[in-house]
Amino acid sequence: MMLEVTNLNVFYDNIRALTDVSFSVEEGEIMTLIGANGAGKTTTLITLSGLKKAQSGTISFLGKDITKTTPQSRVAMGMSQSPEGRRVFPGLTVLENLEMGAYLRKDDISADMEKVFAYFPRLKERRKQSAGTLSGGEQQMLAMGRALMSRPKLMLLDEPSMGLSPLLVSEIFAIIRQLNEAGTTILLVEQNAAVALKLAHRAAVMETGRIVLSGTGEELSRSPAVQKAYLGG
Ligand SMILES: Nc1ncnc2c1ncn2[C@@H]1O[C@H](COP(=O)(O)OP(=O)(O)OP(=O)(O)O)[C@@H](O)[C@H]1O
Ligand SMILES: [Mg+2]
Repeated sequence: MMLEVTNLNVFYDNIRALTDVSFSVEEGEIMTLIGANGAGKTTTLITLSGLKKAQSGTISFLGKDITKTTPQSRVAMGMSQSPEGRRVFPGLTVLENLEMGAYLRKDDISADMEKVFAYFPRLKERRKQSAGTLSGGEQQMLAMGRALMSRPKLMLLDEPSMGLSPLLVSEIFAIIRQLNEAGTTILLVEQNAAVALKLAHRAAVMETGRIVLSGTGEELSRSPAVQKAYLGG
């Protein structure tokens, strides 16, 4: 297993956000966590990337226990996150945002910059534009491109489809598939269950801080409970 999460319990002050969350991500796959607003999806991702501390439970990445390590060391090990709401640096240019994604690297980043531009040609055209003036979809591309600049083995994507037109959603999801086919393992958090289940090899459903169902993307798409709650009938 590339990532193994065991019995994570996470609190915000004394409010419990995650209860005994356990799941794993296999090398080479796309795994998706779906669930309604407030289910705990973002909390799970930020606990994995180290921005939020777990009260108990363990996170193992590439065979090492990383539960108590810093966010930077997780990036250096090959985990990178494209956060919810994009969170690009608005005052920096596209190019500078991409450089920030590579801040831990001391080697030549130009080949990876070109790779990001090959996935997202629009970012190349706009490389000198400040990120705050990009459209929502372009900011999403930039957030993903920035996450790619650390050469991740595992990418954590938090709602890449949020606020995008249907056309752009399929464009972004096609790129996620290409990244995966090129060897990047993906943990995708989505409210758009229909597209996420179609793309993912495996999936889990979160409700109020717990994982309540898991299986292959196909199994969950066929599950009456999932259809009723997340696929509109
Ligand atoms: N900084 C915070 N302080 C207090 N409570 C928080 C904080 N962040 C999240 N929570 C609470 O933790 C729970 C899980 O939130 P989380 O953001 O993980 O959900 P989510 O599944 O990502 O939802 P969404 O689909 O709306 O993004 C919610 O009840 C939320 O109100
Ligand atoms: Mg969220």
